Amino acid sequence: MKRPKNRLKNLENIKIAIVGGTGFEKLFKNAKWLRLGTPYGIPPPIFIGRIKGKNVAFLPRHGLNHSVPPHRVNYKANIYALYEMGVERILATNAVGAINHDFKPGDIVVPHDFVDFTKLRSTTFYDDAPVTHIDVSQPYCPEVRKLLIETAKKLGLHAWDRAVLVCTEGPRYETPAEIEMFRRLGCDIVGMTGIPEAVLARELEMCYATICYVSNMAAGIQERLTAFEVSKVSKRVLPKIEQVLIETVKALSLQRKGNCPCASTLKDARFK
Ligand code: HPA
Repeated sequence: MKRPKNRLKNLENIKIAIVGGTGFEKLFKNAKWLRLGTPYGIPPPIFIGRIKGKNVAFLPRHGLNHSVPPHRVNYKANIYALYEMGVERILATNAVGAINHDFKPGDIVVPHDFVDFTKLRSTTFYDDAPVTHIDVSQPYCPEVRKLLIETAKKLGLHAWDRAVLVCTEGPRYETPAEIEMFRRLGCDIVGMTGIPEAVLARELEMCYATICYVSNMAAGIQERLTAFEVSKVSKRVLPKIEQVLIETVKALSLQRKGNCPCASTLKDARFK
């Protein structure tokens, strides 16, 4: 896949994007927003702002009024739009339930691996020739992960720095038996939006890592799950996540230095 050139001349300098839930557009003072079309459909409005002299895009994955459920998010349009803009690094954030009993509501987790239990999503840009098998031995960009963890620690926040995220199809929460199965498989946290976002970014050779926050203990660990509870905990934790994201953007260099596998993903992904 070749990055389209010159289509969006005035956006050349946006190398960093944040992908998250609704509400982060307030990250930027005087944010402008734009609507893009892609071969995969139209993503939600993308906000453009500045953090310490750096242009940054914010894409609310569920749309402006949180109107798109996790299984209906157009992950391909979202990621392709950022790619088209020239974005090279994505910082994502997801609300998750905790499967690991050591994790608690309000905790911050930067996963190092994932298990994909989605069912209906379009998970690749490479449906046609050339047949492309990308390597996900390090599923999240190690450099961006390290920076997210270091930044959280510098801000005095505790962040779990290793966790396996299982992504489910939703929109319902899981059953207690499903959560027990995921626990036995070695999964630590469960969410509905992490995949295929991470995979699609890697397919387009963009760096991607996510900072998750625990909004609840997963089904069967606590008695009942409500969307109200998830949003109540989110409101409490989001200012901290915002702070980590802002400070991470400040610390990220605009130039990638080749210390991660992301930028050369396609080099060894094809048979010829
Ligand atoms: N399961 C799936 N997705 C979630 C959860 C959960 O318990 N909490 C927040 N997002």
